[in-house]
Amino acid sequence: MTELNVEPQWTNPLRDPQDKRLPRIAGPSGMVLFGITGDLARKKLLPAFYDLANRGLLPPGFSLVGYGRRDWSAEQFRDYVFQAVKERARTPFHDKVWERFADGLVFVSGNFDDDEAFDRLAEKVADIDRTRGTSGNWAFYLSIPPGFFADVCHQLQRSGLSHADDNAWRRVIIEKPFGHDQKTAQHLNKVVNSVFPEESVYRIDHYLGKETVQNILALRFANQLFEPLWNARFIDHVQITMAEDIGLGGRAGYYDGIGAARDVIQNHLIQLLALIAMEEPVSFSPAELQAEKVKILRATRAVEPFELTTARGQYSAGWQGSEQVCGLREEKGFDPASTTETFAACTLEISSRRWAGVPFYLRTGKRLGRRVTEIAVVFKRPPHQPFGPEETSALGNNAVVIRVQPDEGVLMRFGSKVPGSAMEVRDVNMDFSYAEAFTEQSPEAYERLILDALLDESSLFPTNEEVELSWAILDPILHYWAESGTPEDYPAGTWGPATADRMLSRSGRTWRRP
Ligand code: BG6
Repeated sequence: MTELNVEPQWTNPLRDPQDKRLPRIAGPSGMVLFGITGDLARKKLLPAFYDLANRGLLPPGFSLVGYGRRDWSAEQFRDYVFQAVKERARTPFHDKVWERFADGLVFVSGNFDDDEAFDRLAEKVADIDRTRGTSGNWAFYLSIPPGFFADVCHQLQRSGLSHADDNAWRRVIIEKPFGHDQKTAQHLNKVVNSVFPEESVYRIDHYLGKETVQNILALRFANQLFEPLWNARFIDHVQITMAEDIGLGGRAGYYDGIGAARDVIQNHLIQLLALIAMEEPVSFSPAELQAEKVKILRATRAVEPFELTTARGQYSAGWQGSEQVCGLREEKGFDPASTTETFAACTLEISSRRWAGVPFYLRTGKRLGRRVTEIAVVFKRPPHQPFGPEETSALGNNAVVIRVQPDEGVLMRFGSKVPGSAMEVRDVNMDFSYAEAFTEQSPEAYERLILDALLDESSLFPTNEEVELSWAILDPILHYWAESGTPEDYPAGTWGPATADRMLSRSGRTWRRP
């Protein structure tokens, strides 16, 4: 497997040699997308394919085959993709790029267990290999509920689609949720691995595709400034927050019965924890990076008693800015007696010399005060404070805050003398902003991940072991919640249930209000 910073496969002779934004162009290949009519495909995946085409990063004969139950003509499929691209693409629309991209669009209609439809799909794929030069290299993207993974994998095997001839490849890309707990994740992994070897499986955690998340590694390991302090001697605790202001209208089918912990903590937030806490890898090859993440996940566990160290809530009616919004139980499609949590928080700890005694607080929720994802590394107070209590009454703990989104950047909070005062010291912020420091816009996470999967770059994809270990961390909390009443209501537009505040205030800490 190749490394994270690979040499480009194609080099433009006109390119400025100082420009490190290399065009990593995928070789001849195509992709079959299952779940083409889903929300994710429409809002994220189809626009990302177009953006890649627009950036010149897809191979010339690239073909995108949509597979779905609709009875669409080629024309209808093209229109559908066109709408998605027009509405959501990040880069400007160019007729020429669109025309070239649209030439490779093909639709195959069928169910996920339909032998005849999969045989037709296999014929189409072979036909595209002949006519568009995709060379037998195909990725199958399963953006479908996990209940269908087994059917689709079985059909891909039966129809011969999972099998690559010599010098060609077949890969599978799978979307979460990877199971409901550790046991079901193990089962899903078995199903997928019975058809595709682990090195051909790409599990998507789109947070790993975000530039700011990759920047955690640069911040920690390319600098001398932070790493010496990055341990229990200096760090008091870490807060990882993913707050959203949106509600769940329209997502009942996926979300009811799943909840915030399974939707976000098990994958995105635990991955962020792993990147913040892991040791420096020997290199950034997929194997080395994943080995360090696995080591840290093995050492991570949820702190008990859960009654005091976790919180869960469900939004009730309230105000989101100037808009009056309903509670979860009134949202369309949700069970009016739903006990699904829309807010979840927990306390994790890592048994290692570096992290012993440092709590990691994770929280996520819908319909919170505003949309923000950030990691706050909060430092201890100095062991001795030479300034008096009155002079330092507005001085908090030093902190490094990695803002994943929006307003991507890094903030450092430290104390500074207030001008004109005798010696009053209070908190100030030093702020690095991506938008100000760099002129180019970050690509969308899905652009990066789709391209990486086509390039066989697996660094940014969690392995089956990582997925199972994340469930092992979360499962005890989920069991406890299943047996201990229902989530606490919190009004939409606030920062979650009161228990979340109590979770921290017990130890004299508070959540940041981003
Ligand atoms: C998804 C979750 O993985 O991430 C959604 O299923 C959530 O519930 C989404 O809204 C948030 O992604 P982003 O990139 O907007 O932070």
